[in-house]
Amino acid sequence: FLTHNELDTISYTFQAAIVIDVLRATSTIVTALSNGARFVIPVGKIEEAVDIKRIQPDLILSGERNGIKPQGFDLGNSPLEYSEEVVSGKGIILTTSNGTKAIQKAKKIAGNVYIAAFLNISYVVEQLSAYENIAIICAGNESEVSYEDTQLAGFIISKLTECKRYSLSDSSLIALRTWEAIRRPDFSGTHSQKLIELGFGRDVDFCQKIDVFPSVPICKGERIVRNLIK
Ligand code: MLT
Repeated sequence: FLTHNELDTISYTFQAAIVIDVLRATSTIVTALSNGARFVIPVGKIEEAVDIKRIQPDLILSGERNGIKPQGFDLGNSPLEYSEEVVSGKGIILTTSNGTKAIQKAKKIAGNVYIAAFLNISYVVEQLSAYENIAIICAGNESEVSYEDTQLAGFIISKLTECKRYSLSDSSLIALRTWEAIRRPDFSGTHSQKLIELGFGRDVDFCQKIDVFPSVPICKGERIVRNLIK
Protein backbone atom coordinates (compact mmCIF):
# COMPACT_ATOMS: atom_id res chain seq x y z
CA PHE A 1 0.00 0.00 0.00
CA LEU A 2 1.61 3.24 -1.18
CA THR A 3 0.54 6.82 -1.61
CA HIS A 4 1.42 8.18 -5.01
CA ASN A 5 3.99 10.60 -3.55
CA GLU A 6 5.99 7.65 -2.22
CA LEU A 7 6.33 6.30 -5.75
CA ASP A 8 8.86 9.00 -6.63
CA THR A 9 11.41 7.35 -4.35
CA ILE A 10 10.72 3.70 -5.16
CA SER A 11 12.96 1.88 -7.57
CA TYR A 12 11.94 -1.78 -7.20
CA THR A 13 9.29 -3.35 -9.35
CA PHE A 14 6.09 -5.20 -8.59
CA GLN A 15 4.38 -7.88 -10.66
CA ALA A 16 1.16 -5.89 -10.48
CA ALA A 17 -0.10 -2.55 -9.23
CA ILE A 18 -3.66 -1.50 -8.49
CA VAL A 19 -4.44 2.21 -8.61
CA ILE A 20 -7.21 3.56 -6.40
CA ASP A 21 -8.77 7.01 -6.53
CA VAL A 22 -12.29 6.27 -5.35
CA LEU A 23 -13.24 9.97 -5.43
CA ARG A 24 -13.32 10.08 -8.31
CA ALA A 25 -10.80 9.31 -11.08
CA THR A 26 -10.76 5.52 -10.88
CA SER A 27 -14.55 5.36 -10.37
CA THR A 28 -14.89 7.50 -13.50
CA ILE A 29 -12.53 5.28 -15.53
CA VAL A 30 -14.34 2.09 -14.47
CA THR A 31 -17.71 3.67 -15.35
CA ALA A 32 -16.57 5.06 -18.71
CA LEU A 33 -15.06 1.78 -19.91
CA SER A 34 -17.98 -0.25 -18.58
CA ASN A 35 -20.34 2.00 -20.53
CA GLY A 36 -18.52 1.24 -23.77
CA ALA A 37 -15.71 3.79 -24.06
CA ARG A 38 -12.95 2.26 -26.20
CA PHE A 39 -10.09 3.59 -24.11
CA VAL A 40 -9.00 6.25 -21.63
CA ILE A 41 -5.67 8.07 -21.96
CA PRO A 42 -4.59 9.22 -18.46
CA VAL A 43 -2.68 12.49 -18.61
CA GLY A 44 -0.93 14.46 -15.87
CA LYS A 45 -1.17 18.03 -17.16
CA ILE A 46 -4.03 20.03 -18.67
CA GLU A 47 -1.78 21.36 -21.48
CA GLU A 48 -0.76 17.82 -22.43
CA ALA A 49 -4.44 16.78 -22.58
CA VAL A 50 -5.31 19.79 -24.74
CA ASP A 51 -2.40 18.98 -27.11
CA ILE A 52 -3.67 15.41 -27.58
CA LYS A 53 -7.18 16.74 -28.31
CA ARG A 54 -5.75 19.14 -30.90
CA ILE A 55 -4.14 16.24 -32.77
CA GLN A 56 -7.11 13.87 -32.27
CA PRO A 57 -10.26 16.03 -32.16
CA ASP A 58 -12.58 12.98 -32.08
CA LEU A 59 -11.46 12.14 -28.53
CA ILE A 60 -13.45 13.37 -25.53
CA LEU A 61 -11.39 15.85 -23.48
CA SER A 62 -12.22 15.40 -19.82
CA GLY A 63 -11.06 15.93 -16.26
CA GLU A 64 -11.04 18.32 -13.34
CA ARG A 65 -9.03 20.77 -11.32
CA ASN A 66 -10.28 21.48 -7.82
CA GLY A 67 -13.17 19.14 -8.63
CA ILE A 68 -14.44 21.33 -11.49
CA LYS A 69 -14.34 20.78 -15.27
CA PRO A 70 -11.60 22.97 -16.80
CA GLN A 71 -12.73 25.58 -19.29
CA GLY A 72 -13.17 24.22 -22.81
CA PHE A 73 -13.29 20.58 -21.69
CA ASP A 74 -16.05 18.26 -22.93
CA LEU A 75 -16.63 16.44 -19.62
CA GLY A 76 -15.68 16.84 -15.97
CA ASN A 77 -14.70 14.03 -13.59
CA SER A 78 -18.15 12.96 -12.45
CA PRO A 79 -18.66 9.25 -13.21
CA LEU A 80 -22.35 9.99 -13.78
CA GLU A 81 -21.47 12.07 -16.86
CA TYR A 82 -19.98 9.01 -18.54
CA SER A 83 -23.23 7.36 -19.64
CA GLU A 84 -23.42 4.88 -22.50
CA GLU A 85 -25.04 7.53 -24.73
CA VAL A 86 -22.10 9.87 -24.18
CA VAL A 87 -19.07 7.56 -24.23
CA SER A 88 -19.94 4.38 -26.13
CA GLY A 89 -17.41 3.76 -28.91
CA LYS A 90 -15.38 6.85 -27.95
CA GLY A 91 -11.81 7.43 -26.80
CA ILE A 92 -11.29 9.67 -23.76
CA ILE A 93 -8.40 11.87 -22.63
CA LEU A 94 -8.59 12.26 -18.83
CA THR A 95 -6.54 14.58 -16.63
CA THR A 96 -7.28 14.85 -12.89
CA SER A 97 -5.54 16.38 -9.89
CA ASN A 98 -4.22 13.15 -8.38
CA GLY A 99 -5.67 10.01 -9.98
CA THR A 100 -4.25 10.19 -13.48
CA LYS A 101 -0.82 11.15 -12.08
CA ALA A 102 -0.88 8.10 -9.81
CA ILE A 103 -1.64 5.87 -12.82
CA GLN A 104 1.33 7.26 -14.73
CA LYS A 105 3.63 6.66 -11.77
CA ALA A 106 2.27 3.13 -11.24
CA LYS A 107 3.32 2.22 -14.77
CA LYS A 108 6.93 2.89 -13.77
CA ILE A 109 6.95 0.35 -10.92
CA ALA A 110 4.79 -2.51 -12.22
CA GLY A 111 4.33 -4.45 -15.43
CA ASN A 112 0.59 -4.93 -14.97
CA VAL A 113 -1.44 -1.93 -13.79
CA TYR A 114 -5.12 -2.34 -12.90
CA ILE A 115 -7.69 0.32 -12.03
CA ALA A 116 -9.89 -0.27 -8.99
CA ALA A 117 -12.96 1.29 -7.43
CA PHE A 118 -15.67 -0.02 -5.13
CA LEU A 119 -17.65 -0.29 -8.39
CA ASN A 120 -15.51 -3.24 -9.58
CA ILE A 121 -13.66 -4.48 -6.49
CA SER A 122 -14.39 -8.24 -6.63
CA TYR A 123 -13.48 -8.40 -10.30
CA VAL A 124 -10.14 -6.70 -9.64
CA VAL A 125 -9.39 -9.12 -6.82
CA GLU A 126 -10.06 -12.10 -9.14
CA GLN A 127 -7.41 -10.80 -11.54
CA LEU A 128 -4.90 -10.14 -8.78
CA SER A 129 -4.93 -13.51 -7.10
CA ALA A 130 -2.50 -14.71 -9.80
CA TYR A 131 0.26 -12.40 -8.45
CA GLU A 132 2.53 -12.74 -5.40
CA ASN A 133 3.93 -9.25 -5.34
CA ILE A 134 1.35 -6.46 -5.55
CA ALA A 135 1.50 -2.69 -4.97
CA ILE A 136 -1.73 -0.97 -4.00
CA ILE A 137 -1.40 2.69 -4.93
CA CYS A 138 -3.77 5.19 -3.37
CA ALA A 139 -3.88 8.48 -5.23
CA GLY A 140 -4.87 10.33 -2.07
CA ASN A 141 -5.81 13.94 -2.05
CA GLU A 142 -3.19 16.64 -2.64
CA SER A 143 -0.44 14.72 -0.78
CA GLU A 144 -2.86 13.68 1.98
CA VAL A 145 -3.96 10.13 2.66
CA SER A 146 -7.56 9.61 1.59
CA TYR A 147 -9.95 7.84 4.00
CA GLU A 148 -12.04 6.43 1.12
CA ASP A 149 -8.99 5.12 -0.79
CA THR A 150 -7.64 3.51 2.39
CA GLN A 151 -10.95 1.69 2.92
CA LEU A 152 -10.92 0.25 -0.58
CA ALA A 153 -7.26 -0.78 -0.18
CA GLY A 154 -8.23 -2.57 3.04
CA PHE A 155 -11.22 -4.23 1.38
CA ILE A 156 -8.99 -5.50 -1.45
CA ILE A 157 -6.38 -6.75 1.02
CA SER A 158 -9.05 -8.52 3.10
CA LYS A 159 -10.38 -10.29 0.00
CA LEU A 160 -6.88 -11.20 -1.24
CA THR A 161 -5.82 -12.62 2.12
CA GLU A 162 -8.95 -14.80 2.30
CA CYS A 163 -7.50 -17.09 -0.37
CA LYS A 164 -3.71 -16.66 -0.06
CA ARG A 165 -0.99 -15.69 2.42
CA TYR A 166 0.75 -12.39 1.74
CA SER A 167 3.38 -10.64 3.76
CA LEU A 168 1.80 -7.24 4.43
CA SER A 169 3.54 -3.90 4.87
CA ASP A 170 2.53 -1.77 7.87
CA SER A 171 0.50 0.56 5.65
CA SER A 172 -1.35 -2.49 4.26
CA LEU A 173 -2.09 -3.61 7.81
CA ILE A 174 -3.43 -0.15 8.67
CA ALA A 175 -5.73 -0.27 5.61
CA LEU A 176 -6.86 -3.81 6.44
CA ARG A 177 -7.66 -2.98 10.07
CA THR A 178 -9.50 0.19 8.95
CA TRP A 179 -11.72 -1.87 6.66
CA GLU A 180 -12.24 -4.60 9.27
CA ALA A 181 -13.46 -1.96 11.72
CA ILE A 182 -16.21 -0.69 9.38
CA ARG A 183 -16.89 -3.41 6.75
CA ARG A 184 -18.93 -1.05 4.59
CA PRO A 185 -17.91 2.14 2.80
CA ASP A 186 -17.81 5.17 5.11
CA PHE A 187 -17.62 8.27 2.93
CA SER A 188 -17.27 10.87 5.65
CA GLY A 189 -13.74 12.02 4.77
CA THR A 190 -12.70 15.51 3.71
CA HIS A 191 -12.84 14.82 -0.02
CA SER A 192 -16.42 13.52 0.25
CA GLN A 193 -17.35 16.67 2.15
CA LYS A 194 -15.68 18.88 -0.45
CA LEU A 195 -17.51 17.15 -3.30
CA ILE A 196 -20.85 17.48 -1.51
CA GLU A 197 -20.17 21.21 -1.03
CA LEU A 198 -19.40 21.51 -4.76
CA GLY A 199 -22.76 19.89 -5.58
CA PHE A 200 -21.42 16.41 -6.38
CA GLY A 201 -23.31 14.56 -3.65
CA ARG A 202 -24.68 12.08 -6.19
CA ASP A 203 -21.10 11.11 -7.13
CA VAL A 204 -20.30 10.44 -3.47
CA ASP A 205 -23.33 8.10 -3.27
CA PHE A 206 -22.53 6.40 -6.58
CA CYS A 207 -18.84 5.76 -5.84
CA GLN A 208 -19.79 3.77 -2.69
CA LYS A 209 -21.64 1.12 -4.70
CA ILE A 210 -19.96 -2.27 -4.70
CA ASP A 211 -19.49 -4.48 -7.80
CA VAL A 212 -21.76 -2.59 -10.16
CA PHE A 213 -19.51 -3.22 -13.18
CA PRO A 214 -17.94 -6.60 -14.05
CA SER A 215 -14.93 -5.05 -15.74
CA VAL A 216 -11.33 -4.43 -14.82
CA PRO A 217 -9.55 -1.57 -16.58
CA ILE A 218 -5.93 -2.37 -17.36
CA CYS A 219 -3.12 -0.20 -18.73
CA LYS A 220 -1.89 -1.11 -22.22
CA GLY A 221 0.81 1.32 -23.33
CA GLU A 222 -0.53 4.87 -23.19
CA ARG A 223 -4.12 3.69 -22.87
CA ILE A 224 -6.37 2.14 -20.28
CA VAL A 225 -8.67 -0.45 -21.82
CA ARG A 226 -11.45 -2.66 -20.59
CA ASN A 227 -10.71 -6.20 -19.54
CA LEU A 228 -14.23 -7.63 -19.59
CA ILE A 229 -15.07 -10.37 -17.11
CA LYS A 230 -17.52 -12.99 -18.38
C1 MLT B 1 -8.33 13.45 -8.36
O1 MLT B 1 -7.74 12.91 -9.32
O2 MLT B 1 -7.75 14.09 -7.50
C2 MLT B 1 -9.82 13.31 -8.15
O3 MLT B 1 -10.36 12.44 -9.03
C3 MLT B 1 -10.48 14.61 -7.89
C4 MLT B 1 -11.99 14.64 -8.08
O4 MLT B 1 -12.75 14.28 -7.17
O5 MLT B 1 -12.46 15.02 -9.15
